Amino acid sequence: MKSCLFLSSILSSASATIYYAGVAESGGEFGVWSADATPGTGLPGTFGVEYQFIDEAGVDVHVDQNHLNLFRIAFLLERMCPLGTGLGSTFDETHFDHFKQAVDYVTITKGAYAILDPHNYMRYNDPSSQPYSGSVIGNASDSTAATTEQFGEFWGELAGRFADNEKVIFGLMNEPHDMPSSLVLENNQAAIDAIRATGAENLIIMPGNSWTGGHAWTEGSDPNSAIMHKFNDPLNNTAIDIHEYLDVDYSGSHSECVSDPATNLAALTEWLKTYQLKAFITEFGGHNNTGCDDMLTDMINYMAENDEYIGWTAWAAGPFWGTNSPCCTDSAQLGSLEPGSTAAGGNPGLYETVWLKVLQPLVPSQLQWSGKASVEGGELVAFPA
Ligand SMILES: *[C@@H]1O[C@H](CO)[C@@H](O)[C@H](O)[C@H]1NC(C)=O
Ligand SMILES: *[C@@H]1O[C@H](CO)[C@@H](O)[C@H](O)[C@H]1NC(C)=O
Ligand SMILES: *[C@@H]1O[C@H](CO)[C@@H](O)[C@H](O)[C@H]1NC(C)=O
Repeated sequence: MKSCLFLSSILSSASATIYYAGVAESGGEFGVWSADATPGTGLPGTFGVEYQFIDEAGVDVHVDQNHLNLFRIAFLLERMCPLGTGLGSTFDETHFDHFKQAVDYVTITKGAYAILDPHNYMRYNDPSSQPYSGSVIGNASDSTAATTEQFGEFWGELAGRFADNEKVIFGLMNEPHDMPSSLVLENNQAAIDAIRATGAENLIIMPGNSWTGGHAWTEGSDPNSAIMHKFNDPLNNTAIDIHEYLDVDYSGSHSECVSDPATNLAALTEWLKTYQLKAFITEFGGHNNTGCDDMLTDMINYMAENDEYIGWTAWAAGPFWGTNSPCCTDSAQLGSLEPGSTAAGGNPGLYETVWLKVLQPLVPSQLQWSGKASVEGGELVAFPA
């Protein structure tokens, strides 16, 4: 076993295909879920009490000690664009300021890269029972739904505000699901068009349908593989955003890892090769057991060995998890990937038992630390002294 681990770490460090590696920062989307599913519950919420984007001290540890250069920062569309004015270019400026402060901290103060993550499942107007509540953006049969054009307006406004920061990556949407794949593509395209119309050259990462699951990319009656390559980015700076959990139903809600990533990502990888596209895997995770240790290792090595994959963020760190777990524990409270996190009994949390033990040794020793985020990557260097 020792020699296998040794060999895989050589393989991963010999590869030069991962430019960006880090964690998802989950917390900006907190505080809306309610058992009674009342539309608007938790909105707008109180910053620092019900929701918060990052904890600066946690980001410090992940950058200064762990040398991570990528953070995916979740926020809610209904907080950025309040229901009163609707999805579009009118923002709640106080909310935007809090968000920008987090993005600037990661990108300017710490010099890492940040993915902006509207954590909305391609829905807008009722996040109270995410991921299922709310009208699907662009659903023409739903008079209460925001339109595809409004989604474009929103992205045009947000992109304009970050166009001068080349370390900001535009993640168009978290996990679209249960809608026509053609509508996911249309919405993605409206966003890309609006972003490029502002002159912003930033890297874009766009999702597919079916929770943007890697294993499902070519499956079902309306597969992503049939359509999702048909986007057009005049700057050719758009990559595909993939999520992939390792449990039996790929949901990240079980503690056993049984879905081998190399097998399950093979069809997606072929599709990426065919259309010469790059991908980020921005959500994956595992329990602190031996089976998951091995599969998480296989997954990171698979990305490192296949040129199509250029970046990843594990799910999840964030300021408000406490002893709760973001995934992969059968609801056991084992904490999160936030530095200092503990399990409910006071034992070490997933930060220590999964991040430091399994994932941290697989972070490439060289990553991109300067210049524009790009599908081509950039100069790989050891963490700046
Ligand atoms: C679109 O809206 C109609 C009317 O509310 C609804 O029946 C249908 O399920 C919606 N489609 C999607 C993809 O949500
Ligand atoms: C984008 O890619 C297309 C197809 O390969 C190519 O024709 C075009 O020149 C590229 N545009 C830029 C800006 O690189
Ligand atoms: C997982 O972490 C918890 C909390 O620290 C600990 O009690 C448990 O023994 C760990 N499980 C394994 C298999 O190491």
